Amino acid sequence: MLIAFVLFAGAVVVGLVALMIYLLPPAAKKPCLVPGLDATDDKLGNIPDITQAGSFHEFLLDLHERFGPIASFWYGPQFCVSLGRWKLLKETVSLTDRPRIIFSALESLVGHRSLRTLNGQEGISRHRLLSESFSPRHCAKQLPTFNKISLELVENWKSIPKDDHVPLNDYMMALAIRLLTSTQMGAYFKHHENTMEFHKLYESVMNDMEAVINGDLTADEKGAAHGQVFQKNMTAFKIKVADVISAQRRARNSPDNDVVPEAPLLDTLLANSADDEEIMCDILAFVVGGFHSTGNLLTWTLYYLTIHPETQEEVAQEVANVFKQANGTLKDADIKKFSLLLQVIDESIRCSATVPIAARIDETKELKIGGFRIPPNTPLIQALGVTLQDPNVFKEPDKFDPERFRPEIIKKRNQLTFSPFGIGPRKCPAHQFAYYESLVVIAHLIHNFQLTPAFETDYFIEPRYGLVTKPETEIWINIKARN
Ligand code: HEM
Repeated sequence: MLIAFVLFAGAVVVGLVALMIYLLPPAAKKPCLVPGLDATDDKLGNIPDITQAGSFHEFLLDLHERFGPIASFWYGPQFCVSLGRWKLLKETVSLTDRPRIIFSALESLVGHRSLRTLNGQEGISRHRLLSESFSPRHCAKQLPTFNKISLELVENWKSIPKDDHVPLNDYMMALAIRLLTSTQMGAYFKHHENTMEFHKLYESVMNDMEAVINGDLTADEKGAAHGQVFQKNMTAFKIKVADVISAQRRARNSPDNDVVPEAPLLDTLLANSADDEEIMCDILAFVVGGFHSTGNLLTWTLYYLTIHPETQEEVAQEVANVFKQANGTLKDADIKKFSLLLQVIDESIRCSATVPIAARIDETKELKIGGFRIPPNTPLIQALGVTLQDPNVFKEPDKFDPERFRPEIIKKRNQLTFSPFGIGPRKCPAHQFAYYESLVVIAHLIHNFQLTPAFETDYFIEPRYGLVTKPETEIWINIKARN
């Protein structure tokens, strides 16, 4: 009798617990054992916490600090797992699909048909196809344009009155846009006014995107309060992209072959896309992927050189030696001679966490990561920014120290410890292009100018983390021509 009662009571308790779990709002049910946060809001999950942290990256830094290298949270109603150590990233190296939910705000800009949102075999094939436009072979061919644009900036800076301060980020953003559009996007960008107009519209739509991703602006607010301006800018921007496509198509159809500017990306898109809508989505994906990343990488590198004058002088010495044999413009063989400059760029990417987040998903299979079972369809955040500041790999991670990237020191580390461009077959398709353009621009600038802060030297410029990390405030510098 007693046994029957115990069994009955046990069944009732189990039933009640099951009922409670069933009745709880979906966001409170944890589908696996990875430690982490409960949802703070049924609908928004931990998005209010992301907003409060200031950015997704800062939220992840705190999450990993509290729960360890693998930790979970709720992005809206979606359960997510974040990986904050390179060894855990290694376990995701073969995954190639992206979870749409994390980058959903971007979809309203780049559309549903861009490389950015394609998954499965199609995503990988398209990634391979478009990466070719940014291969070292193409980068080497684009060196004359990189040199020309850099030298134009040098001339421009030489004309700035001695005591004027220079807004570094503004200049580097404008330069990044020119570097990409004039090497990859063809005829439309032969006219400087077109580039400027394109830049202006891009800035306005991108500011809204970042606000949504950081939780400052919800999609609803965007639709109501902010909606009309946002939609107007977006439409104007898309019309510009349509002009970019027609200008290159017209040039290619022209009988005069001399008027067709080299544009590996746009030419590949014109030859391999189903329709103009698909081309437009991919142009937008590369614009979004390439403008802010390069503009801010250049900004941070020059910022670190500005506040580390000894390193700047050592780089100036290296650059002068390379230029001695280069006759004013850098060729492919010269690019390979930079060693300290390359270390400085890598350390700047690391310190600034230029692009702090990537993500993957496996929609069909359960995964085992860090000993935990992860249910199929769980977005996996690759917290690249967290891994770049891991004190177990980079001692005193807040310190700017290009020595960490000396070739003999790199050799002792696993390659994946430094993955600022992502990992595996889906990593940034333009990572080599990013190095080529940055090396050329910075070499020309440091060869011609000494940079000093126009801000208090002990005043640290705060980073503003988003899809890409930019400075919270403009960085004002002084420039002095070198003899
Ligand atoms: C300057 C420094 C740059 C950094 C640090 C950077 C970083 C990244 C990262 C972390 C990803 C995600 C990769 C992944 O999911 O594994 C990515 C993707 C991407 N990047 Fe870059 N990037 C940079 C420059 C560029 C440039 C210059 C372009 C364009 C010319 C570009 C275009 C893209 C595109 C289109 C994707 C999406 C690729 C896909 O979906 O398959 N990036 N980048």
